[in-house]
Amino acid sequence: MPRRTLILGATSAIAAEVAALCAARGDRLYLIGRDARKLQDLVASLGGAVVGHETADLNAFAAAAARVQRAIDALGGLDRALIAHGDLGDQARSEHDFDHARAIIDTNFVSAVSLLLPLANHFEAQGRGHLAAITSVAGERGRPRNYTYGASKRALSCYLEGLRSRLYATGVRVHDFKLGPVETPMSAGHPKNFLWGEKRAVARGIVRAMERRWHTIYLPRSWRVVMAIVRVLPECVFQRFGFLAGR
Ligand SMILES: NC(=O)c1ccc[n+]([C@@H]2O[C@H](COP(=O)([O-])OP(=O)(O)OC[C@H]3O[C@@H](n4cnc5c(N)ncnc54)[C@H](OP(=O)(O)O)[C@@H]3O)[C@@H](O)[C@H]2O)c1
Repeated sequence: MPRRTLILGATSAIAAEVAALCAARGDRLYLIGRDARKLQDLVASLGGAVVGHETADLNAFAAAAARVQRAIDALGGLDRALIAHGDLGDQARSEHDFDHARAIIDTNFVSAVSLLLPLANHFEAQGRGHLAAITSVAGERGRPRNYTYGASKRALSCYLEGLRSRLYATGVRVHDFKLGPVETPMSAGHPKNFLWGEKRAVARGIVRAMERRWHTIYLPRSWRVVMAIVRVLPECVFQRFGFLAGR
């Protein structure tokens, strides 16, 4: 029986790679993305693996439950769901413009919750399934460079953690993919270093982790060690390092 997989934010560079890997191993896919042209191109590239697709702004929260149900109906059930969309936003603008700060939080957190609710209830009722979302190492420690985005991803990680405990006994697995910087349109123009990830390798890590039921996964993997150190640095030490506490 092929796995039935829903990808939300499917036009993201990383999600498109995940979709390609899932299609190659025989999954049946339902894809939801905001950019109609990118979504059409992706669907065309994946051929018969795509059972259905939908163009949607996922910040239209009121439509989330119906959207999820349409995907479940089209796939004839659901085994896996990945929430991949996100918005880094403009940190400096978010410090003066509440509407912009709120848009970042809505995209990364509130819209994810609007989707996790119906997905979690569906998986709980069927007693199995994999529910995953992409968060960020930016959520591990607030930094001037991206703390509005980081706070929204941290809120999502906390929500996923609670959901994981709620569903643990049912056999439903909840995955949190904490990504370090990856070369995609979101990070275009950012200065790179050896810790950066490559989108296909990160996508492979996502697919593999869902197979193995790992729940909290840093990708690239080296970020687990980096963040273990960064998380425990005392504030007085943290503030001394410009590359951590500076812009
Ligand atoms: N790249 C990194 O360095 C990095 C690091 C840590 C975490 N992440 C996370 O990884 C995930 C994938 O990002 P990416 O790196 O692949 O970047 P990306 O290619 O820029 O993907 C971001 C996607 O989010 C979609 N999106 C934003 N707001 C949306 C909305 N309201 N409704 C529907 N879709 C919306 C965008 O849609 P459009 O196609 O319409 O623009 C875009 O496809 C995100 O959750 C991001 O926060 C990325």
